Amino acid sequence: MTTTAPPVIEARGLNLVFQTADGPVHALKDVDLTIRKGEFVSFIGPSGCGKTTFLRCVAALEHATGGSLTVNGMSPDEARKKRAYGYVFQAAGLYPWRTIAGNIKLPLEIMGFDKAEQDRRVERVLELVELSGFGKKYPWQLSGGMQQRASIARALAFDADILLMDEPFGAGRDCPRPAE
Ligand SMILES: Nc1ncnc2c1ncn2[C@@H]1O[C@H](COP(=O)(O)OP(=O)(O)OP(=O)(O)O)[C@@H](O)[C@H]1O
Ligand SMILES: [Mg+2]
Repeated sequence: MTTTAPPVIEARGLNLVFQTADGPVHALKDVDLTIRKGEFVSFIGPSGCGKTTFLRCVAALEHATGGSLTVNGMSPDEARKKRAYGYVFQAAGLYPWRTIAGNIKLPLEIMGFDKAEQDRRVERVLELVELSGFGKKYPWQLSGGMQQRASIARALAFDADILLMDEPFGAGRDCPRPAE
């Protein structure tokens, strides 16, 4: 029944070759993939196999060197302009000069939500990721895992159709280590 849901991400023969000083790096090779509305898909594979590169292609942060890719039926560039997705980066990617609430509001400001609606949404998503009360803090005042949760909250705040998350729960590496 659900297989008839419309495709939201469709890759056909997708290839991406990075040209580097050490020669070409074939990061994506002949990727065929259809993800339909309502599906939850995880990419699992060794470090360097191309997971981040694929997400970056969907988000139009990289451009494939061959094959085709559509996002909600559009080119990745068009989908980016329409803000079809929220993106949680492998590093939390919060702006250090903005508070947690300020970071969550940024896409809402760009999208033209009024101030009251921005505040309402910030409260709702902070509660969802169990960070209520931390809106006034700056990113550096939070632990690595809390920063990642704030980044997830930012991606959830504008009800995007697609949520792209790159290792959103892997904050352990950012924990402070005891002095040697
Ligand atoms: N901007 C770039 N220029 C050149 N090579 C790149 C670039 N970005 C990624 N690569 C190469 O592309 C390959 C895929 O990298 P990618 O970051 O997609 O891996 P990953 O699966 O996300 O790994 P990890 O699990 O460590 O995050 C690697 O060989 C990497 O060195
Ligand atoms: Mg990666």
